[in-house]
Amino acid sequence: MSSATNALGSTIKLNNGVQMPRLHLGVYMTSGRECSSAVTHALQAGYRAIDSAEWYANEEEVGSSINKFLSSQDQTKREDLWFTTKLKSNVGYDDTRRKIKQSLKECGLGYIDLYLLHSPYGGKSRRLECWRAVEEAISEGEVRCGGVSNFGVKHLQELLDSKAKIVPAVNQVEVHPFNTRKDITQFCHEHDIVVEAYAPLARALRTRHPTIVELSKKYKCSWAQLMVKWSLQHGYVPLPKSVKKDRIVSNAAVDSFEIEESDMNVLDGLDEVLVTDWDPTDAD
Ligand SMILES: NC(=O)c1ccc[n+]([C@@H]2O[C@H](COP(=O)([O-])OP(=O)(O)OC[C@H]3O[C@@H](n4cnc5c(N)ncnc54)[C@H](OP(=O)(O)O)[C@@H]3O)[C@@H](O)[C@H]2O)c1
Repeated sequence: MSSATNALGSTIKLNNGVQMPRLHLGVYMTSGRECSSAVTHALQAGYRAIDSAEWYANEEEVGSSINKFLSSQDQTKREDLWFTTKLKSNVGYDDTRRKIKQSLKECGLGYIDLYLLHSPYGGKSRRLECWRAVEEAISEGEVRCGGVSNFGVKHLQELLDSKAKIVPAVNQVEVHPFNTRKDITQFCHEHDIVVEAYAPLARALRTRHPTIVELSKKYKCSWAQLMVKWSLQHGYVPLPKSVKKDRIVSNAAVDSFEIEESDMNVLDGLDEVLVTDWDPTDAD
């Protein structure tokens, strides 16, 4: 998996052959008008993918902003854009089928590009049941690609060892230089599962770290651009979140520099297992 030289314009091939945009806008903890305007700014800036969730309670705002954008111009079609949403809790087969239909209705986009189990919580049989519901939604055309989030190696292995027909296309986990999750990213790489890096900016908690400051100076970029580029160069799909137009634009403007391998190693070495939100990767 190579790094993108055109972060907003390129795609990455998933294990089912579908091409997915290389960089997505995250919309966690954004709602109402703030969410709509963030999505609109991102689409206008050239972002082609938005990462939502049942939990974020903004599928409707994201979907309607995408639809408004599509009807405001002719060049971009629905199939050029990417909508991800997630199942809040592993509620079992029937409820998951219902939740998927509900998300589909909320977003009003006709289909969901990527549907994730948000976490592994709930135990083995629930995980496998919910995954079967995702497989069914794919075969029904409600969902194009299925994936998981916050799955540790043991959860991924469990799915691979099960009777599941589909291997998850994506595992969305917290990954940034301060929490590199080498065990999970290595396993995903070996099994052709794309890593979506959530909290790629480490929630802006390490903006003044001396190494980040020094390397941002060296590459004449912002700390946020450095972190997004690190993620892309590792072959991950970063999901930087901002509600501010200037940040949305600049966070994705990472095409003018390449981080040298030795500096990538330095950034990898910053790992302090910084968890910015939650870490269900070890759940039973
Ligand atoms: N699957 C999961 O369990 C899970 C968990 C967490 C997140 N996610 C996904 O990943 C996305 C990103 O993660 P995240 O939102 O937790 O964290 P993040 O993207 O690492 O950081 C977002 C924070 O950084 C600030 N920020 C963004 N750009 C900035 C800039 N250029 N300068 C200064 N501050 C900046 C934002 O504030 P402003 O908005 O004010 O700019 C916000 O406070 C989420 O939105 C969500 O889609 C998934």
